[in-house]
Amino acid sequence: MAQSLIRKQHPIVTLAKETAKYLNNASSEANSSQSRRVQLAFAKEIEAVCQKDLPEQWPTESEVRALRFAPQLIGNQGPSATASLYQAARTALGWVRWTEFYEEDHWSRSFLPNFANGEGIGPDGRLYNEEIILGLFIFGPDSHYPAHAHPAEEFYLILSGDAAWQIGANTPYTAKSPGDIMIHQRNESHSFKTGDDPMFCVFGWRGEMGAPSWYRDDMSDETEEKKFAAIKKS
Ligand SMILES: [Fe+2]
Repeated sequence: MAQSLIRKQHPIVTLAKETAKYLNNASSEANSSQSRRVQLAFAKEIEAVCQKDLPEQWPTESEVRALRFAPQLIGNQGPSATASLYQAARTALGWVRWTEFYEEDHWSRSFLPNFANGEGIGPDGRLYNEEIILGLFIFGPDSHYPAHAHPAEEFYLILSGDAAWQIGANTPYTAKSPGDIMIHQRNESHSFKTGDDPMFCVFGWRGEMGAPSWYRDDMSDETEEKKFAAIKKS
């Protein structure tokens, strides 16, 4: 009983609840109806997971180079609409489980020193759950996360920093800023690039959780065999 009470006040649960609230209320003008459906499904599932007992886990930590940007991000609050979510994210920053996520190889080498994945709720998160991933994400300045896709549905919600975002293979990059929500449908290609400032986001995964990310040299060429990004063993 006492333990569940503690779980419900955990900084990561507070982050999850604030995220669900934002996803429920954020304007959908720029989103297709399909993206809106995914956005609301995320909110509903996050709310449901917050009601469960989420055991805390403390696996081995490893060096995460992009955490050097954290002090800069902590003092960089975005628009008023994201204020309470930003505060929850700032508090949860020291609680989520930070990793560089990928093994270093030719695909990840250029961005990995600028890549920090903070799993809050999830199979490898601070709070264990197999249905969703909810976490924080830091991406350093002047970095490019190359086009990739995965069977799980995904959202990113920018808290600070700007990025050029591509959703769909070979589509133009469009400017995104704090408060914006990007939805990636299952197996939909996505990529983004930062400018002068680091970017701080909340992100989530739902659906086919165990299936890995894949990429092609040309994401629009369905005859090309998929390649799989190597994930670091936790
Ligand atoms: Fe993704």
